[in-house]
Amino acid sequence: MRSSILRRLAFVAVALTATTAAFGLPWDIDMADSPGVKAYEQKMRAPAPGAVSQANLLTPQSFVANFERATPEGQALTSPYAADAVNLAKGAEMYRIYCEVCHGDGVKLGPVAQPGRMPGVAVLLGDNGVVGRRTDGHIYLTIRNGSALMPRYGHTMTDREMWSIVAWLRQQPGGAQRVVAPPTEVTP
Ligand code: HEC
Repeated sequence: MRSSILRRLAFVAVALTATTAAFGLPWDIDMADSPGVKAYEQKMRAPAPGAVSQANLLTPQSFVANFERATPEGQALTSPYAADAVNLAKGAEMYRIYCEVCHGDGVKLGPVAQPGRMPGVAVLLGDNGVVGRRTDGHIYLTIRNGSALMPRYGHTMTDREMWSIVAWLRQQPGGAQRVVAPPTEVTP
């Protein structure tokens, strides 16, 4: 009886030692503590000598600052691109792809905004259109970051494509900026 208990205890002791020791053995490389370099553990290496810096192909400006649209910086943003024929055609195309489903032709709302579907879709153009009451920066940041139920498009369009929609909207009836919205009218 007594010797059997002792044997069991000895077995447990050996098992415990073996398990603990196993984790400490040099060949037992625990993946949780791999020898890889962890984030921020070392400084980023300098580019190889002679490397030519190149703007990101999607956003030729490389990095374009984002702002809350209600901030003065956001309101004051303007397009770095000319409102030429190429950009206006691009804007019309992008509007058809991304905006028409909800905003329709700008005056008459699109299929997604019909009764029983998405509520609160803004009328963009025409005499009472919201575009005429907003700055370029505001419209651009609305496209880029969304607004209430309106989705964001910053990840689907390049910066140039988003600005091309702003340029195109400005050319449509009622799209030119008439009034600058007082800050209270601008929802964040
Ligand atoms: C899924 C439907 C939907 C799509 C697609 C959509 N919008 Fe909207 N949009 C809305 C809704 C809803 C509102 C009202 C949001 C609010 O009240 O803040 C709105 C509001 C706006 C406003 C007014 C924001 C303000 O200051 O009040 C502008 C400008 C606008 N959209 C432009 C666009 C453009 C340009 C596109 C295409 C890139 C687009 N929208 C695509 C639903 C949509």
